Amino acid sequence: MFRQLFDAESSTCTYLLADPLTADAVLIDTVREHTGAYLTLLQELGLKLRWTLETHVHADHVTAAASLRELAGSRAIASTAAGADCADLKVDDGSTIVFGNEVIRVIATPGHTPGCVTYRWCDRVFTGDALLIDGCGRTDFQGGDAGTLYDSITTHLFTLPAETLVYPGHDYKGRRVSSIGEQKTGNPRLAGQTREEFVALMAALDLPPPRKIDLALPANQACGRSIDTIEIQGV
Ligand SMILES: [Fe+2]
Repeated sequence: MFRQLFDAESSTCTYLLADPLTADAVLIDTVREHTGAYLTLLQELGLKLRWTLETHVHADHVTAAASLRELAGSRAIASTAAGADCADLKVDDGSTIVFGNEVIRVIATPGHTPGCVTYRWCDRVFTGDALLIDGCGRTDFQGGDAGTLYDSITTHLFTLPAETLVYPGHDYKGRRVSSIGEQKTGNPRLAGQTREEFVALMAALDLPPPRKIDLALPANQACGRSIDTIEIQGV
């Protein structure tokens, strides 16, 4: 069972994956403002949320991992290199995540941030902000490195079967899915580009910082608890 959900404010794609036989489910890259909608959907579909997965520590929205842990009893997963000490389970390249009879495999895809991972499930990959449709995540903050991102995409993603479906962490133009084959031959930032050309292209982007970065980074390192809550608990 599969659903793609969308947060219009941050153009974030969230994914619901479930085993229809056991009703065990996971959510990838949740947005805190939609906690209620996730709970309603899970109830409607008769699913039990086991895990919330982060592809990385987001700079543009706050995760619902902490609120869903409280309200749905799920546990939070992040990569070891993400710097999210609040995670219940930390994963690395090659780790597996089990829900019901389903298995997700973790592929380390650093570069947008050092802790970025891609989740591979069945015929598809959830690439977070490493590989976007006809684009890729920026590499100018959060420890980003364009050369590392190029290596991650070309070595770990473009080597997957061409028909593998690509579900990104964001899309700003209303597109929802692509494939490894389409991105390998048609992604304007990567197709036919050498590592040096890609690094130069990324260095020239000159993008403004995300609006919510000062709120989102510390909140997401705490799995989405608010900064106020953390400060109060620290007193
Ligand atoms: Fe990001």
